[in-house]
Amino acid sequence: MYQALKLDYSFSSLYPYLNYDVISIHYNDIYLNYISILNRLLNESNYHYNYSLKELVFNISLFSLNIRGEILYYLGAVLNHNLYFYNISNKKNILPVGKIKEDINKHFESYDKFKNEFIAKANNLKGSGYTFLVSDGERLLILNTINEDTPYSYNFIPIICLDLWEHAYYLEYLGNRSAYINNFFNIIDFNKINIYYEKVMSEVKK
Ligand SMILES: [Fe+2]
Repeated sequence: MYQALKLDYSFSSLYPYLNYDVISIHYNDIYLNYISILNRLLNESNYHYNYSLKELVFNISLFSLNIRGEILYYLGAVLNHNLYFYNISNKKNILPVGKIKEDINKHFESYDKFKNEFIAKANNLKGSGYTFLVSDGERLLILNTINEDTPYSYNFIPIICLDLWEHAYYLEYLGNRSAYINNFFNIIDFNKINIYYEKVMSEVKK
């Protein structure tokens, strides 16, 4: 069975950028439910959990066509939420460090230009989905995915993830999605993002 990411911050610690109700409902009711549905679908398909979640995206043809789309949906949902809940915290590590700082400056000229482009892209999303910073192995790019699509399906490695489903913000921000998007940059954790980024980029080079 795939396990949920354990948070290293409390549900109340992201206030005022995300309040207790928003983060607790998002984690307990939505994310944990996605994991439980994914595990149920995989158990019903006699899957033996011999791949990581990411590897399973590339091996989705293991499953019969009539269930593949549903499995990929919940697999994307779990992967996207794993990264979203990982890349935020209350630690105030809100400025890039290390390799991610170096590469953001290389590909976007400056942190401010990257941040402005990310915010513009997020504000441009129609419907439910995500804004990601992704790597194609060489370049960093910003893109939106819709529904529960994971960037892995398009051969990109997700590096930073912002959840733009209404369940991620509506209870606190109502229709003011752009304030939620701006405040993401007050709870983003670049120390954790850099640790993850260095790890995934070292695997690309192998
Ligand atoms: Fe979500």
